[in-house]
Parts: sequence; structure tokens; C-alpha cells
Amino acid sequence: MGVAFLLSAQEVRMEVDRRAFIASLGGVAAVNLMDHEAKAEALEHYMEDKLDEMVAAQQPEKFPTVAEIEAQIETRPFRRGVGSVFTSSKGNVKIIEKMPDKPTLHDFFRLRFAPANHVLQSATRALKTGMSEEIVLACLLHDCVLSLIKPDHGWWGAQLFEPYIPEKSAFAIRYHQTLRFYADDDAGYEYPDQYYRIFGHDYQPPQYIADTYKMLKNHKWYMEPRLVTVNDLYAFDPNAKVSIEPFEDIIGRHFKQPKEGLGYDNSPSAHMWRTLARPDNPL
Ligand SMILES: [Fe+2]
Ligand SMILES: [Fe+2]
Repeated sequence: MGVAFLLSAQEVRMEVDRRAFIASLGGVAAVNLMDHEAKAEALEHYMEDKLDEMVAAQQPEKFPTVAEIEAQIETRPFRRGVGSVFTSSKGNVKIIEKMPDKPTLHDFFRLRFAPANHVLQSATRALKTGMSEEIVLACLLHDCVLSLIKPDHGWWGAQLFEPYIPEKSAFAIRYHQTLRFYADDDAGYEYPDQYYRIFGHDYQPPQYIADTYKMLKNHKWYMEPRLVTVNDLYAFDPNAKVSIEPFEDIIGRHFKQPKEGLGYDNSPSAHMWRTLARPDNPL
């Protein structure tokens, strides 16, 4: 298809750098040997190539600034950090299905963390790439607390799961929040574009995150949260089909399901599970 379909005659004239065009054909002498038809065809090819170049070099996505993100605060009836169970991105919230009397991790996955595609995808990748069971479990749980609350989700998430999972998995969940802000080429982790989008391209992590990073760099378990961030990067595929089934064995081995049900075992995080279970309670 000729470029003329896409650009008006005037635009074509404006876009062509005559010297570059003539040089691309082998110089003035070469052009003088061409007949009118050949020159017209060459121009069209040249323009098509130019157009392809322009498309390829298209403006990169324009990320917001921190100030622009801050300006959105007063455009919403809720705060940005509220857990996904407590708000709706489209219209009113809906009646939420009741949890069984003695809810298990599976019940929470089905009724409160769903669809949970992101965590399932990240754990699937951890499993496929042969990571330790503690890491697979950490990946499976690393963002589940976002149903409850969003700011400091690493710390909240670790606290939610800590009474029930291996220490290394809780460590990985707690600190993935910090390490996601810091690239690690050797581990295959780069700063994600998504953070330019949600925090602003000029965002600087606060001091407590910088201090935590410094602590983690020298920690013997550095790679635990680092591997969660590595799997995190590749877990946003809208077409991936994932389920919790492949993780049944790992959950069985490493998640201490309380017999009373999550929320009713008087653990240090039982109240968090209850809040998730009954999000419509007024007080
Ligand atoms: Fe996260
Ligand atoms: Fe994540």
C-alpha cells in the first residue's frame, strides 16, 4: 500500500528530506538515470520506509508524574490503598458470598482473593523454573493481601500469612515490596514500566524502603524476596490459564491450616482473616 493513502500530498512534501532521499538512491547521478515512473516508485518506497521508521520510533508511553497522580486523589470517592474486597472499580459493590464456618486457604482463594490470576501466574512460573517450595508458596501468596489493603502490602501480607507458613516464605513476601523498586540484572529483574504508571515516573521510594533495601542487600536470604520479584514481572499475561491445583501438594506440606478455620484460631493475624471474611461489618 502506498504511503499516499496515509499522508496528504503536502505532508509528503514536508516529510521528505531531499538529500537523504537522493543519497538513498545512490546520489544525483543515479537519480538522473531513472525515468519518471522509477523515481515516483522510489519515492513511494522511500516514504514507506520512513513511515515504518516513524511507527517504530513512536513516542514511548507518557507516564504520569508524582504530582499528576496526586492530583487524582480528589477525583475519587475512595482512597487508592483500599483493599479490592472493599471497593469497586465499576459502580456499586455487590453482595459477597459468605465464607464457610471453618474457612481454609482454598476458600479464601475462591471467595476473597479471586480471580488471583497474577499470584497464580507468578507461582506457576516459579514452579516451572524449579524454584524452592518456599519460593513457590511465597509467589502464590505474595499479593493476596491486596484484597484487604494495598499500602505496605509486603508487610501486611507477611503478617497475614506468618503464623501458617515457613519463615523464608514470610520473609520473601514481606520484602518483595522493597526489592521491586530496585533492579538486579544478575537476577533478571528490571524496574517495571508498571511502576512508572502507578507511582509516577519521578517517584523516589521513601527512606524506610531505601533503608530496608540496604539491609536486604547484605542479608543471607536476599534471594528469597528477589525471586518473588523476578516471577512478579512475568505474571501479567491476560491469556494465561492458571489454577490452584498444581499447588495443592505444596500448600499441604507448608501451609498450616488451623482446624478452627482461618480467622478463628486466635493467631496474631486471625482478625485480618475475619475482616476479609466479613467485609460488610460496620464496626
Ligand atoms: Fe506485590
Ligand atoms: Fe505481584
